[in-house]
Amino acid sequence: MGRTRPGERGPAGPGPAAPPAPPPRRARALALVGALLAAAAAAAAARAFARYSEAQAAARQDSALKTLGTEGLFLFSSLDTDRDMYISPEEFKPIAEKLTGSTPTADYEEEELPPDPSEETLTIEARFQPLLPESMTKSKDGFLGVSRLALSGLRNWTMAASPSAVFAARHFRPFLPPQGHVELGEPWWIIPSELSVFTGYLSNNRFYPPPPKGKEVIIYRLLSMFHPRPFVKTRFAPQGAVACLTAISDFYYTVMFRIHAEFQLSEPPDFPFWFSPGQFTGHVILSKDASHVRDFRLFVPNHRSLNVDMEWLYGASESSNMEVDIGYIPQMELEALGPSVPSVILDEDGNLIDSRLPSGEPLQFVFEEIQWQQELSWEEAARRLEVAMYPFKKVTYLPFTEAFDQAKAKNKLVHSILLWGALDDQSCQCSGRTLRETVLESSPILALLNESFISTWSLVKELEDLQNNQENPAHQKLAGLHLEKYSFPVEMMICLPNGTVVHHINANYFLDITSMKPEDIENHVFSFSSTFEDPSTATYMQFLKEGLRRGLPLLQP
Ligand SMILES: *[C@@H]1O[C@H](CO)[C@@H](O)[C@H](O)[C@H]1NC(C)=O
Ligand SMILES: *[C@@H]1O[C@H](CO)[C@@H](O)[C@H](O)[C@H]1NC(C)=O
Ligand SMILES: *[C@@H]1O[C@H](CO)[C@@H](O)[C@H](O)[C@H]1NC(C)=O
Repeated sequence: MGRTRPGERGPAGPGPAAPPAPPPRRARALALVGALLAAAAAAAAARAFARYSEAQAAARQDSALKTLGTEGLFLFSSLDTDRDMYISPEEFKPIAEKLTGSTPTADYEEEELPPDPSEETLTIEARFQPLLPESMTKSKDGFLGVSRLALSGLRNWTMAASPSAVFAARHFRPFLPPQGHVELGEPWWIIPSELSVFTGYLSNNRFYPPPPKGKEVIIYRLLSMFHPRPFVKTRFAPQGAVACLTAISDFYYTVMFRIHAEFQLSEPPDFPFWFSPGQFTGHVILSKDASHVRDFRLFVPNHRSLNVDMEWLYGASESSNMEVDIGYIPQMELEALGPSVPSVILDEDGNLIDSRLPSGEPLQFVFEEIQWQQELSWEEAARRLEVAMYPFKKVTYLPFTEAFDQAKAKNKLVHSILLWGALDDQSCQCSGRTLRETVLESSPILALLNESFISTWSLVKELEDLQNNQENPAHQKLAGLHLEKYSFPVEMMICLPNGTVVHHINANYFLDITSMKPEDIENHVFSFSSTFEDPSTATYMQFLKEGLRRGLPLLQP
């Protein structure tokens, strides 16, 4: 169970006292040279032939360093994925694609229906404000050690690729519920997730999205308004798009959706840079035959202090090191300028009508008012979609201070997860992801959490803000007690209602001890309860029970 992907890194360092890290590209290139030289020395003592070839490799390395310089050698080494000091045609491919401009074609199937002159169209507008660079953790040291090239795709993305675009109403047909009776709030998948913790993840080392198929086309076209390289299927689970009905009338539906998609901001010869907003959500109001769209909106929620995960490779192979950071994008939004209208207006006899009145005013359409027969609140629909994406959310996770108020009222312990990036969207690809896909959604854990704890999760940044807020000393104290026990990237804690932490465990430590090989377990290196087949569930169970053992006696009688 992959805790970290190759070379996953955290934010810049433990604190302001840490010395600035050396520029990673250069450091890595020098380490590579050093390692090769050391290897050459060792082999030389062993065999003459080895001595000869190793010396040659070292010489080639030396001469490459002289020819290319450190940065150049780094670029060369990162293309030379098999490290033989030669670039094969396959290894040269990203460069060739860049230089010849022969990027994989962006053709995709466009559902070609016979053109219908009375077909309705609507205009959708994109609103975009770029990511705030100062929201990134790596901005704290002025992006020291982050290559300028790595961020160029991000820095260059200052506006939406297409500020406005025209769609036919029928393009929104994929948002309709599947055939048969569909209840309010009952989720269905527009694009099903094909990944699980067992299938692993899709390659990081890609630049161009695969051509979208079927229902993916509309989502691809919508997201392309922001940036030309949207991937409608994320590299990591949960992928896809899920939707549910929030209102039904005789002729119309309101459909709410949640989409997990991401963008590739780099092109060769730069290395991949992935930009993964927490989620895209929104709604469409459309007629049951998709001939008319009354309203459409899609946006990245911006109410939390961080809402985008970014990951970039500094090397061209899957095993190259990866940098991770999180940031805040204030606005990423699509909205219909108005309901869809016929492109051509015909009178009852089939004659073309001028869409301008004699006065020159454009013709005004009058739309019937929709009488909804059933409606579901936005909050409830959002919760249903969230549980569809993240089964661990079957247990309620309250906001931080609310959780402690509830714990006081109910005299219960608090189960709290404190992390660097969000637990319930795609803006944190760190250990939180492994947790929620395994232990937190396993049924014995869900049952124990539901029965014996009040659960909450928070961003470190949110608690830091709470701690600095002089106006509420009680909240300051709660946040302080939590932050005291935190270490990067994720800390799980059990607390008394007054905030005292009675037990805690770091996620990386937790995942290390639970990713032991079956032999170790058989050899009783660790004793797992035999009730659970999965060691991580068993270990999390132990963690919760230990919390109860320490905490329950301290609760008010
Ligand atoms: C920057 O963006 C412009 C247009 O938005 C594009 O033509 C150019 O290639 C981009 N440059 C880089 C380095 O991505
Ligand atoms: C949580 O407990 C309540 C009753 O105590 C029950 O109705 C609900 O189904 C439980 N939820 C889960 C996810 O176990
Ligand atoms: C919280 O309550 C426990 C048990 O009553 C006590 O030992 C602890 O000192 C309290 N913590 C704070 C921060 O008041």
